[in-house]
Amino acid sequence: MIDKDTRGLGLAPATADDYRELARRRLPRQLFDYLDGAAYEEQTAGANRQAFSRLRLRQRVMRDVSQLNLSARVLGQELALPLILAPLGLAGAMARRAEVQAARAAERAGVAFCESTVSICSIEEVRAATTAPFWYQLYVMRDRGYTRELLARAQAAGCPVLVLTVDLAVMGARYRDTRNGMTGALPLVGRLARAWDLLSHPHWLLDVAIRGKPLTFGNLAAAVPDARSLPAFKAWVDSQFDPRITWTDLAWVRENWRGKILVKGVLDVDDAREAAAAGADGLVVSNHGGRQLDSVAASIDALPRIVDAVGDRLEVLMDGGVRSGLDVVKALALGAKACMLGRAWGYAVAARGEAGVAHMLSVMRQEMEVALALCGVTDLAALDGEALVQAGQQLRPGDPASGRHEEFGISAIRD
Ligand SMILES: Cc1cc2nc3c(=O)[nH]c(=O)nc-3n(C[C@H](O)[C@H](O)[C@H](O)COP(=O)(O)O)c2cc1C
Repeated sequence: MIDKDTRGLGLAPATADDYRELARRRLPRQLFDYLDGAAYEEQTAGANRQAFSRLRLRQRVMRDVSQLNLSARVLGQELALPLILAPLGLAGAMARRAEVQAARAAERAGVAFCESTVSICSIEEVRAATTAPFWYQLYVMRDRGYTRELLARAQAAGCPVLVLTVDLAVMGARYRDTRNGMTGALPLVGRLARAWDLLSHPHWLLDVAIRGKPLTFGNLAAAVPDARSLPAFKAWVDSQFDPRITWTDLAWVRENWRGKILVKGVLDVDDAREAAAAGADGLVVSNHGGRQLDSVAASIDALPRIVDAVGDRLEVLMDGGVRSGLDVVKALALGAKACMLGRAWGYAVAARGEAGVAHMLSVMRQEMEVALALCGVTDLAALDGEALVQAGQQLRPGDPASGRHEEFGISAIRD
């Protein structure tokens, strides 16, 4: 997080966190809080970041780092960087047709974009605006017929990867949304306060509320034709999440999907094994950005054991707290195949649209290049636990004093 002392003159954004600050100024409070906030006391959201900042990279020198390879093959797709823009519901409320803008920026940077079930722009709108394949994220809904229709639409759009989000059997409460009156009926004073929040952000008003219409869930319009407002849509969506879903439903999804299936929202080794047994192609170690069950583990802390358990059978990705190229290098060193970026792109698109996302991705690329070069590694694929050291020390691998296993509780860091 950037504090006032390091913000300089604030003339140009340098990092994903700078885009957070720009988004905070640009967005109505209720929307910024929806994007930035997390569940309950927001401890896990904080832990996602703190766990990254505890990890230390191992600097190496004199190793000819003139040629670097940052590309990756993820679930059969060649990416210029091991990054995927994570599914963000309601993104189109942050910037005008935000999903399209982000998908275009992703295409330019050679990374994948993942369209959420609850996007503002429909699958077809994103398809028409881009040429690169994009991924589709599914919530299995009570209405299986509609779920099947969504899968057919994503297949018709050529989506190679289905991201099946499994950590939303019930919804975690986000208290910022409650305080902003997003979750219930409001008295007149409350309605006026919320209207004032929107009206006092004229740039957002013009860009999104006026020019960014229709502000409806593009993929669900046919399912809820009577919904006239976002809260009405949201009520329908909330009622559709299916708490009965189990691993056997993966077989049903498989029957209706020809491409790869990536299970998103796994934190536990036993669940990872179940995902492998149920036939997933990969999984995303994720706590939904701390937006579901607060107090669960930081994703980066959960990652190494899951890689140890299923990394030989599944492609293991991670998300949660990734805000810089250095974070990405740390995650790959701990065994992730790639990272998903959630809020990082949400902030950037809210602040500067497509150009913001493109810039944020170029910053991440540069950060990854520098981190790789100064760790003495020339190929991302060669990153492993040897690129990390114990906090506060620069110990040789194998140094008995390092105690790195105990420090991190992981076996990915080699002795
Ligand atoms: C505003 C917002 C909306 C989200 N909507 C979805 C969604 O529709 N589907 C989904 O699978 N995950 C959703 N997520 C979770 C992200 O895909 C991702 O797991 C998380 O943001 C990663 O953490 P990070 O924001 O710290 O990068 C959402 C996250 C945010 C912040």
